[in-house]
Amino acid sequence: MPRVILLGAGRAGGFHTTSISQIDGLDAVCVADPQVDRAAEYARRLGCAVEADPAKAIASYDADALIVATPTATHTDMVKLGFAHGLHVFCEKPLGLLDDIRECYGASREAGRELMVAFQRRFDPEFRAVRAQIGPQRPQIVKLTSRDSPMPSAPYLQSSGGIVKDCMIHDIDIANWMMGGDETHAVPTRVSASAYTHHPMLKEIGEHEGVAATMQYDDGALAVIDVSRTCNFGYDQRAEVFGSFGMIQLGNRRESVVVSHGGDGAAFANPLYSFPQRYPDAYRAELEHFAAVVSGETECDVRESQVVAGEIICNALNAALDTGAAQDVVIA
Ligand SMILES: NC(=O)c1ccc[n+]([C@@H]2O[C@H](COP(=O)([O-])OP(=O)(O)OC[C@H]3O[C@@H](n4cnc5c(N)ncnc54)[C@H](O)[C@@H]3O)[C@@H](O)[C@H]2O)c1
Repeated sequence: MPRVILLGAGRAGGFHTTSISQIDGLDAVCVADPQVDRAAEYARRLGCAVEADPAKAIASYDADALIVATPTATHTDMVKLGFAHGLHVFCEKPLGLLDDIRECYGASREAGRELMVAFQRRFDPEFRAVRAQIGPQRPQIVKLTSRDSPMPSAPYLQSSGGIVKDCMIHDIDIANWMMGGDETHAVPTRVSASAYTHHPMLKEIGEHEGVAATMQYDDGALAVIDVSRTCNFGYDQRAEVFGSFGMIQLGNRRESVVVSHGGDGAAFANPLYSFPQRYPDAYRAELEHFAAVVSGETECDVRESQVVAGEIICNALNAALDTGAAQDVVIA
């Protein structure tokens, strides 16, 4: 059974704690976070040790793997530290800038240890059902909507890398996966994007509030993605896939399945509040997959080429936002 050290006891550390506590094949040995009170609470739930210093945790505990759920800007250093100590590493998205990504995978090969980046949406049973229905067919249009709830704090946003790399990266990964046909993923050849910001706090810190992007693939097929930093009715996560085969729709999971019909129309419950409520199955399944990868039972579904392509596409979309011009996607 792989023994894991969890770094970071914030929001992502919280859902990973829940998953680890539910997975028979994973055993936590330590939770580390400079905010040691938070780490202590998660360690209590997992029945393991607690440390304030992540480097000390990695150096002191007998473990097989590291789960990195720390702020985005720390990922590369934590991943490399894990490999330096011979650990397999599971890291939250985004892994880092292009050079960082390549260095991390290089360090993974050098250490002979696995690296998995957390694209949990691919492990969600409903997104998987949509992908299975598409099968080898190529959709003509994939439409994805992802609206965050609640709006993250200003300090989080300022170190997140921006909405494209922090949020849209999930949709980019899913669009490429749904367009993948017989292959696991396709990569668009050209992208464009536009943004707006109305919220005063987001204006103050120079963060986009909403972005709409198109990604065009080699045969002209389109992915159309809209994301928002905030949504006043819940965590809005929808997909629609259209092609010569028809249309597949994925709606929101809601707080209740009760629908009240009356003279004024029908009332549905809101979508679930946030990502821990919407994606518990996906968060559990991605760590189950990681446990199987570490145990040598299967190959990692999240590949270096896909992570590299995701970062290159994010850079092209950010360039499209900065310049107002569509950008070619060049995988070098
Ligand atoms: N896949 C998803 O659905 C999803 C959802 C939320 C966040 N995330 C990702 O998870 C990461 C963390 O986001 P969050 O929302 O949990 O942030 P957060 O601010 O809630 O928590 C981060 C925690 O990490 C701690 N920390 C900082 N440096 C550390 C280090 N070197 N070692 C150990 N702990 C350290 C902080 O004290 C804090 O408690 C981000 O990269 C984010 O993109 C992914």
